[in-house]
Amino acid sequence: MKCRNFAPLIQLFFSFFLLFSCAKKITESKGIILGFSQIGSESAWRNCNTRSVQEAAADAGIQILFFNAEQKQENQIKAIRSFIAYQVDVIAFVPIVSDGWEMVLEEAREAEIPVLICDREINIKNENLYAGYLGTNMLREGRSAAEFLLKKFIDPDTGEIVTDGKSVKIVEMRGTEGSSPTNMRAEGFRDVLAGYSGFEIIYSESGDFLRSKGYELMCKILEKPELGNIHVVYSHNDGMTLGAIDAMKERGIKPGEDIVIISIDAEQAAIDALKRGEINCVVECNPKQGPDIMHLAGLLALKETIPRVIFMEERVFTEWDDLSAIAPRGY
Ligand code: AHR
Repeated sequence: MKCRNFAPLIQLFFSFFLLFSCAKKITESKGIILGFSQIGSESAWRNCNTRSVQEAAADAGIQILFFNAEQKQENQIKAIRSFIAYQVDVIAFVPIVSDGWEMVLEEAREAEIPVLICDREINIKNENLYAGYLGTNMLREGRSAAEFLLKKFIDPDTGEIVTDGKSVKIVEMRGTEGSSPTNMRAEGFRDVLAGYSGFEIIYSESGDFLRSKGYELMCKILEKPELGNIHVVYSHNDGMTLGAIDAMKERGIKPGEDIVIISIDAEQAAIDALKRGEINCVVECNPKQGPDIMHLAGLLALKETIPRVIFMEERVFTEWDDLSAIAPRGY
């Protein structure tokens, strides 16, 4: 008997099946209701993140219940509870701080509503209380900041540190206390520097990711003669950096020249300052997470499993790069 090869036919059948089920998923995502709790509008970065989420929801035909928590965890918890009461299909939120989410996430689980953690990470014993995390690799961001410092201050020929003194004196401006970007950017930075002697963090304080606080903090730091010569300012976001630059300029200090400045986010204003030589390195933190959030929300609404962690693509901009080719940032 002649034996026929049905494999191509079977393959064709499955391709049609897959195509059909994908098309069905896209149509189904249109009816989804997503509860989204944003932390506030503390920075240009955050405003871009909000725009990205809202525009992507509109593009995907996803109805979004959007709450701005005005920087308060209790407002986020209230918002999540209202999403549960409303029986949304998916909950997504940006946790302002890492701790304190167990109870409300238990409530979401009891209501069988999948939860996506966005932008900032949480500390939680039972990781099954949320479906996955989408955001940036903040440990990596801190490491990239320190790696720039190594290149800037270590002579490649001798391996010696180049400063006017014995060590490179660093001032750190931290973000919101208890938040994952603050903890991880601090940790990644220290991890890399720990392998080298001669780098000293002489002062570290929170400016809460705010430009106004960055300015105030730098005024305070520059009035501390006991700190001596500051070689580097490492700031956890561009808002604080731009405030600190204002404070330096008012005192006749040349940012980028007298003090090396490393910042995180890559807002347009920081890239412009990098081009003017007032910042030496900007580590990108990508806020345009909306389209990925909507894609994952679509999958979660269909009760599909998503990856535990998805990191956005990011790059590092330095004073040594060709800066003429950077496309407008949009934030
Ligand atoms: O969570 C991301 C951080 O929050 C950004 O670096 C900062 O600008 C924002 O406010």
